[in-house]
Amino acid sequence: MSGEGKIRIGVVGGGFGASFHFHEHPLAEVVAVSDLLPDRRAHLQQRYQCDTAYESLEELLQDDRLDAVAIFSGAPDHARHCVAVMDRGLHCLSAVPAAVSLEECALLVETKERTGVRYMMAETSYYRADAITARRLYQDGAFGELMYSEVEYYHPAIGAAGDPLSFADGERTWRYGLPPQLYPTHSTGFLVGVTGERLVSVACVGTAGGDQGFVDNLYGNPFDNECALFTTDRGHICRSNVMWNVWNHGERAQWMGTRCSLFAGSWSGQPYVIRSMDGGDAPPPRDYAHLLPDAMRYDSGHGGSHPFLTHEFVSAVVEDREPSVNVYEAVAMTAPGIVAHESAQRGGERLSVPSFDPQCKE
Ligand SMILES: NC(=O)c1ccc[n+]([C@@H]2O[C@H](COP(=O)([O-])OP(=O)(O)OC[C@H]3O[C@@H](n4cnc5c(N)ncnc54)[C@H](O)[C@@H]3O)[C@@H](O)[C@H]2O)c1
Repeated sequence: MSGEGKIRIGVVGGGFGASFHFHEHPLAEVVAVSDLLPDRRAHLQQRYQCDTAYESLEELLQDDRLDAVAIFSGAPDHARHCVAVMDRGLHCLSAVPAAVSLEECALLVETKERTGVRYMMAETSYYRADAITARRLYQDGAFGELMYSEVEYYHPAIGAAGDPLSFADGERTWRYGLPPQLYPTHSTGFLVGVTGERLVSVACVGTAGGDQGFVDNLYGNPFDNECALFTTDRGHICRSNVMWNVWNHGERAQWMGTRCSLFAGSWSGQPYVIRSMDGGDAPPPRDYAHLLPDAMRYDSGHGGSHPFLTHEFVSAVVEDREPSVNVYEAVAMTAPGIVAHESAQRGGERLSVPSFDPQCKE
């Protein structure tokens, strides 16, 4: 920590990584940034008012001032980059997803346990107001038994041959042909992040729309939409969509309990509604800004979640405690999608999702 008791953070990845609030947190400062691309390095420096920029994560990790590093590189790099951060004894914040293979999930857990640092995944769905409300209803027992959930993420054109996000300087990026369920956490986070239950088996089907991006890609993936049907360790059902090739937008969920259901608002026009068999259907307050430091009480990207993610990571490090989306929660949101995609590749065969939780380890 700095002399002022602030944690000193390095930020890596100047696209999405430039949309956070570390420099505004009263207990944090950004002391170094990095991106492979000069313009993105400059953007990070400007955003976080930071004098020091490195040409790569590997160089940044040599900076002895750091307490923590936030990784916002491409998805297939997250596990490798986060392991490098934790192996340097530094706390780690990772963009979603935590990993893209089950082996990487295991490696992340092993590295976090061995090094004893803090690890958090920056799942934006966890801090959307609807998810915070659902979590509170769940903790209050208002749902009765939460039997069924529908969790979903729609982002048209990801992975397609005409998608600008799937190219940089004319080269394909990691998003080109990306299997939807390798990017599952915006959906799964709505259940795992609300009830803490685990998705234990899955049958998944996909559509192969035939766009060139899904004909020839590094993942060998033909699917542009994937719909997974999970069972949970509490005997419940979760239908989880991740879709790139339907005209629908955004992340949302509906949670259905025996006594109460919450339907999140949607781009489709579906209003935000709570229906309870006890009556009292009026929505509860949905503004949780009072939970944030004064300087960070404003709306932001992805349903207002960015200041919450920033505050939770900084607070967990300063208070020497596990963060909300710790490594076990992160892989519990990530691994089910990896297995779901495997199921889709096997024609919808039902498969078991391995647990990475401590009590289930051999
Ligand atoms: N709602 C959300 O949670 C949300 C939204 C958008 C993106 N994301 C995630 O955030 C991550 C970043 O997204 P993006 O759109 O900016 O991706 P991107 O591919 O555009 O940017 C990744 C950046 O990482 C840099 N990088 C890669 N390896 C590096 C290294 N060794 N050292 C320094 N820099 C390195 C690259 O130069 C690149 O600029 C992705 O994993 C994505 O999944 C999450």
